[in-house]
Amino acid sequence: MEKSNLPYDVLADFYDRLISGYPYEKALEKVSSVVGRKGIDLGTGSGKFAIYLCEKGHAVVGVDSSSKMLEKARENARLAGVKTVFVQSDVMKLDFTKVDFVTAMCDVVNYLSGIKDFEKLSKKVFSALSDGGRFIFDISSEYKLKGMVGEQFFEDREDLTYLWCNYQQKNQLVMNIAYFIPCGEENYIRRDEIHKMSIYSVDELVGVLEKVGFTVKTYGEKLDKLKDDSKRVFFFCDKK
Ligand SMILES: C[S@@+](CC[C@H](N)C(=O)[O-])C[C@H]1O[C@@H](n2cnc3c(N)ncnc32)[C@H](O)[C@@H]1O
Repeated sequence: MEKSNLPYDVLADFYDRLISGYPYEKALEKVSSVVGRKGIDLGTGSGKFAIYLCEKGHAVVGVDSSSKMLEKARENARLAGVKTVFVQSDVMKLDFTKVDFVTAMCDVVNYLSGIKDFEKLSKKVFSALSDGGRFIFDISSEYKLKGMVGEQFFEDREDLTYLWCNYQQKNQLVMNIAYFIPCGEENYIRRDEIHKMSIYSVDELVGVLEKVGFTVKTYGEKLDKLKDDSKRVFFFCDKK
């Protein structure tokens, strides 16, 4: 394997084109309709949620650890004509300001190192929220990630070819991805990334959230009823 880059250093250039199967339209509308005015979008990525929420009149700061993803987010905000503020930080090191809502959409919580960090983050979010505030996030489910253990995947596209191998290490799914980026007529540049996704059961996350003080509702992958084989789980947590 080649020397690894930081997660999203390479993927950032392809993220918006590669991501499929995530119910953005439904989730954007739902989140926007249930949150207050001022919020923070953790792991904002290319800014989809932060930008949409700003377009709908919310005041949002997007936070991400990846400078490459933030470059995309700033470019997307410029194209959308909105003035979203983006900040580079690890969410675990962020100093939260008082807000009405915090979002962490599409696997950001899977990227935490595990349940201890999730508890620390949930406590920080709880204290940052105003009364009646909301913490909304979604994860790739235990069912989905365990089903991906040992899988190998490749895709050969015009703009990118990639190989992707998964294995489980303790409570994480480790994904080794080798990207081959076309360079001139006959050559490719190879760049590698390792992504580590923590695997959580719904019960353990709900347990932590309730201990912290949240009232929690969970939904399945299309924001519908949560089932044992739901691949995505949405958490809507209220500070009452
Ligand atoms: C799958 S992307 C989701 C992006 C965006 N929320 C969306 O819905 O499209 C996960 C993002 O979380 C960011 N991320 C992961 N761990 C992080 C951390 N500890 N602090 C800040 N950002 C993090 C990654 O850099 C990446 O941009």
